Amino acid sequence: MTTKLKRIIFWSLFLLFIIYGFFIYTLGTENDGGKKFLTEGAKKGKLLYQEYNCTSCHQLYGLGGYMGPDLTNVISDPGKGESYVKSFIKNGTQQMPNFHLGEAEVNALTEYLNYVDKTGISPVRNFEVQYDGTIIQKAIQ
Ligand code: HEC
Repeated sequence: MTTKLKRIIFWSLFLLFIIYGFFIYTLGTENDGGKKFLTEGAKKGKLLYQEYNCTSCHQLYGLGGYMGPDLTNVISDPGKGESYVKSFIKNGTQQMPNFHLGEAEVNALTEYLNYVDKTGISPVRNFEVQYDGTIIQKAIQ
């Protein structure tokens, strides 16, 4: 291999490294993991979710207890939504306890479920494997 060819290969690889590095440290770090949806209300709701141990019966992002339904996308579910969620949390049902929560707590829990809804899909059913091995969700059912 001539010295000239070696130089061309070296500088091409170096250039690719610079371009790759640029994308990794600019576009690659743009995703804030949904922090912009984690409002003050949602943070309070998260603490309430932990305090009342909702996770003992419900799943978020597919994890949790199995007595109640998965709550990840209950907010964007076409047949459910915010007022539906609020009435469950406020009143309970025969199977779900009534925690006798105040208006502010119910709103905070709903805001937290809103955050969860915007940051995850569960269960992931309708997905497609891409050429690089990652998956994309095709449509929310
Ligand atoms: C003892 C178990 C239990 C606990 C603890 C519990 N839930 Fe539930 N929850 C259930 C069950 C069971 C249902 C289904 C009730 C029904 O259909 O009658 C339900 C339903 C719901 C629903 C409606 C979901 C849907 O898709 O229809 C919401 C929203 C909800 N719970 C929120 C909460 C929140 C928030 C907490 C914590 C403050 C909580 N739950 C704690 C058992 C529980």
